[in-house]
Amino acid sequence: MTNKTFNDNFLRACRKEPTDHTPVWYMRQAGRYQPEYRKIREKYTFFEMNYFPEVCAEVTMLPIQQLDVDAAILFADIMTPLKPIGVDVEIKSGIGPVISNPIQSLADVERLGELDPLSHVPYIGEAVKILTERLPVPLIGFAGAPFTLASYMVEGGPSKNYYKTKALMYTQPQTWTKLMEKLGDLVITYLKAQIAAGAQAVQVFDTWVGALNREDYQTFIFPVMNRIFTELKKTDVPTIYFGVGANHLLKDMNQLPVDVLGLDWRITIQEAREREGVTTALQGNLDPALLLAPWDQIEAKTREILDQGIQQPGYIFNLGHGIFPQCDVETLQKLTKFVHDYTSR
Ligand code: CP3
Repeated sequence: MTNKTFNDNFLRACRKEPTDHTPVWYMRQAGRYQPEYRKIREKYTFFEMNYFPEVCAEVTMLPIQQLDVDAAILFADIMTPLKPIGVDVEIKSGIGPVISNPIQSLADVERLGELDPLSHVPYIGEAVKILTERLPVPLIGFAGAPFTLASYMVEGGPSKNYYKTKALMYTQPQTWTKLMEKLGDLVITYLKAQIAAGAQAVQVFDTWVGALNREDYQTFIFPVMNRIFTELKKTDVPTIYFGVGANHLLKDMNQLPVDVLGLDWRITIQEAREREGVTTALQGNLDPALLLAPWDQIEAKTREILDQGIQQPGYIFNLGHGIFPQCDVETLQKLTKFVHDYTSR
């Protein structure tokens, strides 16, 4: 690292090394809660913001300049690498990804192409390069995990219960295995390309995997996640794995060769450590809805989380899921400062 003032607290926490203060970043830290984002978004569709590396870099940098967070996350979407392999996806504001050609059969899975990052998503590598030259903090690359990607690909959009996805898993095991294999390859290839371009850590978002019970997770998902993290381990870059409503799967996730597990707000850090036996570094877990409450309540809960988090090295402060568009920028500024001040050592 040539930049003397580079803040690497986030990377040190991922590796369970001592830090100057507890590092902080927020899921969805670039987004509609920012007036600057909304202004840029008026001019482009979501994917256009991705296609222009300078726009992507500008949006990625917004929360660094505004909030003083300790890590940046590349501005893209989990759907970004799916478009070039034949998934006809659009991002609809307030809804999320909508897909016009959902997966229904083995033939549909076989039609999916293979991702070649340099020719399919060259703008991602370019944005990563621009960002790692400019950023005073580490850049996190990311991908959606196979189950979460599959849930959109099979349902055709957001879902409450994932019954189509699960029905495909239960009734067409061969199709499911093939889909997991292909998405596993895609995640590995895509993340390795981001790392090659300069990403200093990677997060795998398995937002909806909590819809599965433990036995199904072990049978249908664990093998592909194990393959992904085993491959990423070879790169020397810290890895993070995150799911929402997935605390019943923490014991299994802890068996993966992953460096950091992300927690949602439904569990305390102490419960994750003591009851679930999590030994990885931890990231989380303030309820993003609490950011809409008065500051006293936010501070009290943050204090409680930090008191548990800093018991052991390997702790990163974050939310339990993404920031809501209704959140105030000032609240996040105050929260970041509070975490830094409270944990400075
Ligand atoms: O700042 C960041 O966190 C980086 C960028 C990022 C986005 N999506 C940008 C985005 C990241 C890391 C994601 C990941 C993502 N996308 C996940 C996993 C994390 C999570 O939040 O669970 C999932 C499930 C998606 C799918 C998706 N894309 C959803 C559910 C939505 C939100 C729909 C909405 O409008 O509320 C999107 C769209 C999206 N992705 C937006 C942003 C900033 C909003 C786009 C807009 O309308 O401007």
